[in-house]
Amino acid sequence: MAGASVSTPDHSDVVEAALSGLDLDTKARLLAGQDMWSLPALPAIGLRSLVMSDGPIGVRGVRWTADDPSIALPSPTALAATWDPELAREAGTLLAQEARRKGVHVLLAPTVNLHRTPLGGRHFECFSEDPHLTGEIASGCVRGVQGGGVATTVKHFVANDAETDRFTVDNVIAPRPLRELYLAPFEAIVENARPWGIMAAYNQVNGTTMTEHRHLQKDVLRGEWGFDGIIVSDWMAARSTVGAILGGLDIAMPGPVTVYGDALAAAVRAGEVAEAAVDDAVRAVLRLAARVGALDGAEPAVTEPPPALDGPALAREIARRSFVLVRNERGALPLDPARVREVALIGAAARDARVLGGGSATVFPEHVVSPLDGLTAALPDGVLTYAVGADPSDELAPAGQGFELRAVCRDAEGNVLGTGSLPSGQVQWIGGDLPAGVTHERLCSVEVTGTFTPRESGEHIFGTRGTGAFTLAVGGRILWQGTQDPREGGDPFEAFFGAPAERGRAHLTAGEPVEVSLLHTVRRAPRAALSAVMFSLTHLGPRRDADELIAEAVEAARSAEAAVVVVATTDRVESEGFDRRDLRLPGRQDDLVRAVAAVNPRTVVIVNSGSPVELPWRESVAAVLLSWFPGQEGGAALADVLLGHAEPGGRLPTTWPVSLARAPVTQVCPADGQLPYEEGLFIGYRAYDRAGVAPAYPFGHGLGYTTWEYESLEVTPAHATVRVRNTGERAGRETVQIYLAPLDDAVERPRRWLAGFAPVEAGPGATVRVEIPLRGRAFEIWDEERGRFRFVPGPYEVRACHSLGDTRLSATLEV
Ligand code: BGC
Repeated sequence: MAGASVSTPDHSDVVEAALSGLDLDTKARLLAGQDMWSLPALPAIGLRSLVMSDGPIGVRGVRWTADDPSIALPSPTALAATWDPELAREAGTLLAQEARRKGVHVLLAPTVNLHRTPLGGRHFECFSEDPHLTGEIASGCVRGVQGGGVATTVKHFVANDAETDRFTVDNVIAPRPLRELYLAPFEAIVENARPWGIMAAYNQVNGTTMTEHRHLQKDVLRGEWGFDGIIVSDWMAARSTVGAILGGLDIAMPGPVTVYGDALAAAVRAGEVAEAAVDDAVRAVLRLAARVGALDGAEPAVTEPPPALDGPALAREIARRSFVLVRNERGALPLDPARVREVALIGAAARDARVLGGGSATVFPEHVVSPLDGLTAALPDGVLTYAVGADPSDELAPAGQGFELRAVCRDAEGNVLGTGSLPSGQVQWIGGDLPAGVTHERLCSVEVTGTFTPRESGEHIFGTRGTGAFTLAVGGRILWQGTQDPREGGDPFEAFFGAPAERGRAHLTAGEPVEVSLLHTVRRAPRAALSAVMFSLTHLGPRRDADELIAEAVEAARSAEAAVVVVATTDRVESEGFDRRDLRLPGRQDDLVRAVAAVNPRTVVIVNSGSPVELPWRESVAAVLLSWFPGQEGGAALADVLLGHAEPGGRLPTTWPVSLARAPVTQVCPADGQLPYEEGLFIGYRAYDRAGVAPAYPFGHGLGYTTWEYESLEVTPAHATVRVRNTGERAGRETVQIYLAPLDDAVERPRRWLAGFAPVEAGPGATVRVEIPLRGRAFEIWDEERGRFRFVPGPYEVRACHSLGDTRLSATLEV
């Protein structure tokens, strides 16, 4: 178990004293955002404004801009692939350090929804398909963040496992899967790590929207589990004043337009809500403020923050430990840096690395180490060659590489109110996050303007994303003038997640700068829930002939001793706001890998994606390494692992399917508003077992650079004790996994499930013994009749495994 949870002083006296100093209107106001990210300060009772920020891989702060950079850690799937709650705790400690640096009290993370299907758009942002692994990694993370004195909000409670119609979908889930799968990580985290916050999801569960779900929020979370933190709505998820407060929602975010505040005070005055309900929610907020040191007179939970961590070093270490080597034929990896004379690095993502997933989990790192940067630094001069090979993206993306842009804000008369710097063509100003001197009331137009210096000559495509009126000009020529209307019933964050539209083309010359301008007229909807300006100038470079690009890469690979091909998804494939439609690598990347593998027997493929993709060529390449979204130091970590300075330490936190057609659970589209979780208990490996389908790579799979012999296994109902020996020639790390398989079928259960795991380390030839606790819950099921968990006696086979597909030892346990 990764460290203890922070024990908090009893703040009830100071909370009651503060509460008694507040009138109804002030209390109601405290329960709603005063803006996008914070609650109001109440100086009269010594309460400072509580500031919240996303998210799981870094702390963005209250501004959506690269001006205020953040450390970007690897994606949550990567963190889970380390199978190391202690490393997750360190990640949490770093996030707390970042939060404190940015004045943030509440981190909107971790995301603990499950990988119900590989199509889930936020799959990369969740940990695993397995509730136990999810609960352990997330508990480590929560302990780390809160150990740094910063609150977590474990999200999204509950069953926000896909993105399609996320604001309205009614997920219909039977009691057993709800308890044994979807609620299980939340329950474990509440028990193990005492989080100070939970975020209520957008979706409904069994007919009730989660922000109003009295049974799950009050009876289960607070009642059964004893949760004493705040329940905050997901952004714009609270839709009814009375429903939400009676349903147990403490804070409605964001503001100032809100169903709480004045509307809540009015509901109390109208007799629809007892003031005591408001008081309970205010107590939760004051308790949170006391814990994070934002309430005078209360001793914060953490008075001495832990010693400072080196962010880039930790990002690199997590990345190395997360990479999963799923195939390594004839010792293709590691490459020997002292002997290798020519390495061909191939792939667009090797140069323009994709280090994080899209949506609210986005942060802006100060720098990014691409695979090209990392390998260039690690190999002697002249060893590395680079070719693009194939571009995964044939869609426009926010103007980035080669653009120098700023935003000019004008009022109705055309006077300049202010200007803002822009790291890319994306404008994302929400609430008060506007350039100095600019207010939403006076802002009439925003012009994204500056220069673009192309890297390549040819036809460049320009476009827009977002809604409203636009004028687009390149090199002084107007390419498009027009209006884009919002999609009816679309996601409110559509401008952010939506598809970019092509608006015009211009022939440009490499190295010659041209002026670019996108003028956007701001549309203000009366009483819009958010005051926001969100749109993008988008761009796509000249499309070179795809066959020519592949041929160029093949030539580079032919003469090299090893070809390293980086394949990737794009942020139009994996992001918050929509689900995936297929699992294919975009563009011609599959053709590229096949062509390279045909000429170079030592072809090593790096899969740069946050979630599973089909790898139809996987049996014909020498090695496949999954690098996830590896965070800002990903390229440096990749060089460490490829050249053998470190072992790829990851194990799959989720089953890797052969293809979408052979993935057992793929339904993410509701019919008539409902999405029945028809598969019941059978998601992830539980589903593959039931269907008798073999995946490409099983749950828990991952190779290191040494080999292990499992020498002995002893079991009791409380523990499995395993002795393993490192039989290879170098020091290494093994994740010992324990699965339970029931030997009778008295009740319907999966064929086997993860009951415990532990990392071990040993030098060559050395033996280690590890005692792995078996959690009691592993022997229980949810009893629908009695409404509680019940122990299921019987003989169980206890298996000590390298992965789900590689059992090394087993023993029978009678309980
Ligand atoms: C996401 C949350 C996030 C919030 C604030 C929502 O759209 O679902 O995970 O914390 O926005 O950015």
